[in-house]
Amino acid sequence: SSLVKEKVDPFALVAEELSLIRNRLLNMVAADEVPKLASAAKYFFELGAEGKKFRPTILLLMSSALNVSQLESAPCTVTNFSNELRTRQQRIAEITEMIHVASLLHDDVLDDAETRRGVSSVNYCMGNKLSVLAGDFLLSRACVALASLKNTEVVTLISAVVEHLVTGEVMQMAGTSEQNFSMDHYMKKTFYKTASLIANSCKAIAILAGQETEVAMLAYNYGRNLGLAFQLIDDILDFTGTTASLGNGSLSDIRHGIITAPILYAIEEFPQLQEVLDRGFSDPSDVDLALQYLGNSRGIQRATELAVNHASLAAAAINSLPRSDDDDVGISRQALLNLTQIVITRTK
Ligand code: FPP
Ligand code: FPP
Ligand code: MG
Ligand code: MG
Repeated sequence: SSLVKEKVDPFALVAEELSLIRNRLLNMVAADEVPKLASAAKYFFELGAEGKKFRPTILLLMSSALNVSQLESAPCTVTNFSNELRTRQQRIAEITEMIHVASLLHDDVLDDAETRRGVSSVNYCMGNKLSVLAGDFLLSRACVALASLKNTEVVTLISAVVEHLVTGEVMQMAGTSEQNFSMDHYMKKTFYKTASLIANSCKAIAILAGQETEVAMLAYNYGRNLGLAFQLIDDILDFTGTTASLGNGSLSDIRHGIITAPILYAIEEFPQLQEVLDRGFSDPSDVDLALQYLGNSRGIQRATELAVNHASLAAAAINSLPRSDDDDVGISRQALLNLTQIVITRTK
């Protein structure tokens, strides 16, 4: 029944497997010769600093959601195969989290962040240099783990993601004024910075399972649209915070001159807003002025609608997967559908 469906908790479904992955991550970043580097690299895999674990949760659920019912014959071989496949898919979750944390270590240097995940950031407590090197180290260990899968297609996909992360970051940092006020540029940047990692790792999960191209594309489209919805909501929350009203968010994007979807839509209604933003907030009262324009516009509403639209596209990808009567497959697909709702209704 629908009541039961809504109760499927995506995070609870994979909680045990996530703790296994956390232990493996801790082992994967050991480095006897350079303990300082290892301790910086494993900082965000320790209990209490692990973050929301959105990506590994999605990837494990996607693994189960694509579990085609195995042949009845030779159950022993089938079990071995599915255990080995599962381990390889878990490895994708580990690699994805390592790449994600590597990008956060570098990001916190670029952003001069003092905290991350509710604790001191690595750059803050161990310095920029070690933080950069710890990110490089994590990235190298991720490369080694990726190579160990011996699947060239997967290596190609995940390597492209690393380039995308860098591309997205530079697009955000070094866009021209014209680019910064373009919705097209914003969506491309958002794909590179946020959605590519989850889109391509979802696709890798399907490829490891030996799925055909169509199914791999559905997995990719789920990740892509969920990632885009997630970032759009993130950009809205930067204005609204936990309340529904403007100005209660951290306002960190606009203060740093980062133009996001709500503002881009507001400019369509009030072109004068672009001139205010172009002044670069040398006058602090310009932030309030910009917020006034935004509040009088349908910017937040339209950005929310776009997020909802991408969340629906993500759900549609799951609903287009080949039929399965397997209960575990059904529950995992339901969990992936619930995530599309969780992403757009979250308040933090
Ligand atoms: C930190 O990731 C924030 C970013 C890397 C920028 C935006 C990324 C997202 C909003 C998440 C991507 C969305 C999906 C659906 C995978 P985070 O907020 O996930 O941080 P955490 O790992 O510390 O929880
Ligand atoms: C968080 O964004 C950061 C990212 C989504 C990616 C940053 C990517 C790089 C620094 C390129 C280097 C990449 C690798 C793989 C080493 P944010 O600053 O908007 O969000 P925050 O609030 O979580 O800091
Ligand atoms: Mg940052
Ligand atoms: Mg940043």
